[in-house]
Amino acid sequence: MKKINEYRGCENFDLRQLLIMGRKENLKERTKFFESFINNLQKNKELQHLRCILSPSDREVFVKDRYTGKTKKMLMFGSNNYLGLANHPYVIEITKSAASKYGVGVGGPPLLNGYTNLHRELEERLAELKGSEDALIFSSGYGANLGLVSALVNSNDLILYDSNSHASLYDGIKLSGANSQSFEHNNVKDLNELIKNTQSYADKFISVEGVYSMEGDTAPLDKIIKIAGANNAYIILDDAHGTGVMGKTGRGTAEHYNVEDKIDITMGTFSKTFSVTGGFITSSKSIISYLRFFARSYMFSASLPPAIAAAVLAGLDVIKNQPELLTNLNDNIAYTKKALNQIGLNINSKTSIIPLKVPIGMNIRKASHAFDEEGIFLNSIEYPAVPISEQRFRISLMATHTKQDIDNLISVVERVWKKYSDPGRLEAA
Ligand SMILES: Cc1ncc(COP(=O)(O)O)c(C=O)c1O
Repeated sequence: MKKINEYRGCENFDLRQLLIMGRKENLKERTKFFESFINNLQKNKELQHLRCILSPSDREVFVKDRYTGKTKKMLMFGSNNYLGLANHPYVIEITKSAASKYGVGVGGPPLLNGYTNLHRELEERLAELKGSEDALIFSSGYGANLGLVSALVNSNDLILYDSNSHASLYDGIKLSGANSQSFEHNNVKDLNELIKNTQSYADKFISVEGVYSMEGDTAPLDKIIKIAGANNAYIILDDAHGTGVMGKTGRGTAEHYNVEDKIDITMGTFSKTFSVTGGFITSSKSIISYLRFFARSYMFSASLPPAIAAAVLAGLDVIKNQPELLTNLNDNIAYTKKALNQIGLNINSKTSIIPLKVPIGMNIRKASHAFDEEGIFLNSIEYPAVPISEQRFRISLMATHTKQDIDNLISVVERVWKKYSDPGRLEAA
């Protein structure tokens, strides 16, 4: 095995291999390598992550340019603030008054000293939103998945999960010690075969996401529910990206598929539509009260600040009282998809997440810099987060984007694609 040093300076080095190999190196060697990797990106102006935002995360943001130090205005197409709640005047007002009334934090976890009437009210409202008996709030969505899976799924159980699941699900499974197997993304046939051919387990679980954050597609919940029913399996639905924006009234992806009463356990986050932080689980009373004492990321982690609970409560009010926001978002999704298809990209997403897969041969980092220079804030998803052939930019649409914002985005996409694709090829990989 080559030492890290021997790879330095290689043009097309394989970052993933280096990182894997790096684990065999001591800490000094690993950190030195990583430092030089990052410095190299900076030198080549290829680092667009960790941008420093100086304003609310709205359709337009002010960003401190890493390379010039100057403040610049950018169109934000990289935030999960789908309904514009991050900068909604009512949400801000309610959040401010909760901070005045309750102070900035609670100073401990819920079971001991961090549970207020706002936390309980929020649990009740979330249970109502999801048509469940009860709910439990975590200080992050990541912690919600970690606590949920590690507490509920035992080593004599089986959990089958979609291969595109979020890292928090993978980590929860690792922590649980459960038997687990992934099925091909959204492939119900594969799931069916796997579950039919399993030996007997104490309990079986099927875990899917409402909206997948890399593809912007949805789990076929109607079909998955049938498989779960036929095989006596519990369904865990991670609706991080669906809550607030999927379904007729924003109740989530289960509303979209009209299967709300068939989902055993729903997980969600406050970091997407609600644009704060935190996570939640909704389920039966017995599962929720069990989780309150067995989910370690709940028991051993401090509660959300009450003002954040207030922000989510206010967000729930807005979702209910301003349905036009959801209508705007859906209009923007349709408008953007049509425009991208018109310039030759093949877009299938039906949600506010629109992946632009980069053509083979396009240097994603150079293209990313070009978007940045043109004032477009987009997320680039690079290898090794996805395979090389699956590298992409991810557009996240908001209800507050104007048609002019979207037109600007499209013309920049067209320019960048022309400049950085092979000449004459204007297509998605
Ligand atoms: C599907 C999914 N589940 C869970 C999480 C974790 O949520 P949070 O970032 O709120 O901790 C995310 C966040 O990206 C997610 O996309």
